[in-house]
Amino acid sequence: MADFSNDNFRLEGKVAIVTGAGGRGNSIGRAYAVALANAGAAVVVADLNGEGAQTVADEITAAGGKSLAVQVDITDTASVTAMADKAKAVFGGIDILVNNAALMVEIVDKPLIQTDRARFDKGMAVNVWGAINCAQVVAHFMAERGGGAIVNQVSAGAYPAQSFYGVTKIALHGVTTTLATELGRQGIRVNAIGPGMTKTDAGLALTPDDSPLVQYVEARTPIQGRDTPDALCGTLLLLVSEAGRWITGQVINIDGGWVMRG
Ligand SMILES: NC(=O)c1ccc[n+]([C@@H]2O[C@H](COP(=O)([O-])OP(=O)(O)OC[C@H]3O[C@@H](n4cnc5c(N)ncnc54)[C@H](O)[C@@H]3O)[C@@H](O)[C@H]2O)c1
Repeated sequence: MADFSNDNFRLEGKVAIVTGAGGRGNSIGRAYAVALANAGAAVVVADLNGEGAQTVADEITAAGGKSLAVQVDITDTASVTAMADKAKAVFGGIDILVNNAALMVEIVDKPLIQTDRARFDKGMAVNVWGAINCAQVVAHFMAERGGGAIVNQVSAGAYPAQSFYGVTKIALHGVTTTLATELGRQGIRVNAIGPGMTKTDAGLALTPDDSPLVQYVEARTPIQGRDTPDALCGTLLLLVSEAGRWITGQVINIDGGWVMRG
């Protein structure tokens, strides 16, 4: 047994894919991609918005990291397979998958009671099937390397779910525990992060400083109701590195104590 070292958080030699990392300037996906690169991983910045993905990949490369931009639609298996093949061709394999891409602002403007089948299908296709699709394609590449780590992005808005968006995220919680069970024997750990209100461009558009929801959450949250994307990155590094090797099937809520489970 070796004593614990901070090096256990390092990711040199690892290859990570972060979906939804290029869409908006200030996003959680961008923060994750930069954090993984700073920890030593080669990072595939994947997004439906290929131009945005390129901007983030260029930023990482300019800072001395290894990165590659890929335009991908996570709902499309051929597109996800092409992304994974490219990651392997350029960096030699895949060890880490962060299922961060989702529809949020796009599906919160109507209550569930008014959500029609087309909107339901679209929201579930991206937020739930997209993560399953990426895991199905990438698990095989991880198994080739002896294992890996998958992190799904859920939300404080799922505990309890009080919107269609929350319904998609609590479904993704179920995907997390199920994949953790199914993939554990291949050395693949599957966990999730549940951020609270995070100050991204998308988050701020949804809940600006003066919104009643922000006031409400600030008033009932033990530490603070909102924080910036970098506040999530330490937990991400724990979940994908040797430091977190005994953790699987868990959701870690990072939201100042808004969601607590006994
Ligand atoms: N910002 C918050 O307050 C908050 C809180 C809890 C959870 N989250 C979750 O964190 C994640 C990122 O949130 P964000 O605030 O950075 O939002 P964001 O809108 O900036 O990021 C979502 C990204 O997903 C991409 N995307 C959408 N559909 C796609 C598809 N089919 N294929 C590939 N990419 C696709 C978008 O282009 C975008 O870049 C999301 O899963 C969101 O649900 C955000």
